[in-house]
Amino acid sequence: MATSNPAALCIKGLSKSFHQGGREKKALTDISFSIEQGDFFGLLGPNGAGKSTLIGVLAKTVNPDCGEISILGNDINRDWRNFKMCVGIVPQEITFDPFLSVYETLRLQSGYFGLRDNNKWIDELLEVLDLSDKKKDSVMRLSGGMKRRVLIAQALVHRPPLIVLDEPTAGVDIALRHRLWEFMEDLNRKGHTIILTTHYLEEAERLCRRVALLNHGQVAALEDTQVLLKEYSKDRVIFALS
Ligand SMILES: Nc1ncnc2c1ncn2[C@@H]1O[C@H](COP(=O)(O)OP(=O)(O)OP(=O)(O)O)[C@@H](O)[C@H]1O
Ligand SMILES: [Mg+2]
Repeated sequence: MATSNPAALCIKGLSKSFHQGGREKKALTDISFSIEQGDFFGLLGPNGAGKSTLIGVLAKTVNPDCGEISILGNDINRDWRNFKMCVGIVPQEITFDPFLSVYETLRLQSGYFGLRDNNKWIDELLEVLDLSDKKKDSVMRLSGGMKRRVLIAQALVHRPPLIVLDEPTAGVDIALRHRLWEFMEDLNRKGHTIILTTHYLEEAERLCRRVALLNHGQVAALEDTQVLLKEYSKDRVIFALS
C-alpha cells in the first residue's frame, strides 16, 4: 500500500535460482533493502554476483522465485502499469531492432508507454546525449559508445523518477565517461533517483551516496559510500571470487 513518502525502491525477501542441466544456481538469496527518493545508489559486486539479475527482476525480464518489490509505493505485480512508468532501465546488453533508426527506436519506445506526442522531449534527449546528427542513422551502424547513449535515451523517454543503469560506462572512452557522469549527476540534481552498477570504484566514490555490495547473490554490505570504502580499504577483501 502506498504511503505519503514511499521509498524510491523497496525490496523484501527477493530470491531467484536458475536451473540449467539439472543443476541449481542461486543468483539472488533473500535480498532486502530500500532506497530513498533522491538517492544516488551504487550496486557493486564481482562478475556473477547477481546485479543484472536483480535489475532484470525490476524490468520483469527475470521472474523471481519469491519476494516483494515496489517503486514509489507501486507493487511490481499489483500496480505494474504505474511501476513501469516510474522506472527507466538501461540494460547491460546492447540490443536493438536493427531495422530502425535512432529516432524511430525512441518513438517506438515512447509508444510502448502510450506517449504519442513525445518528439520535443526526444529531440532534447538527443541533444543532451550528443546524438542529434545521428537521429536518422540505423542504430546498428553506430559505434558502441553511441549505442550506449541511445540505450540511455531509450530509458528516459517517459521521464521516469527512478533510473537504473547497468554498467553504463563499461567500455566507453574517458571523455564520454566524464560526460555520462555529469549527465547522471544532473539528472540526480533534478530529483531523479539513480541506481548505478559499476566495477569502477572511483566512479562509485564520485557519484554514489550509498553503496550495496552484492556477493554470491547476497547483500554483503550496505553503507554510505565513504564509510564503506574506508572500511574495506583497511584490511578486508571486498569480494570473494565467484
Ligand atoms: N538466464 C540465465 N540462465 C542461467 N543462469 C543465469 C542466467 N542469468 C544469469 N545467470 C547466472 O546468475 C548469476 C548472476 O548473474 P548476473 O548476470 O546477475 O551477474 P552480474 O553481477 O550482473 O555480473 P557482471 O558483473 O558480470 O555483469 C551468474 O552465475 C549467472 O551465470
Ligand atoms: Mg551484469
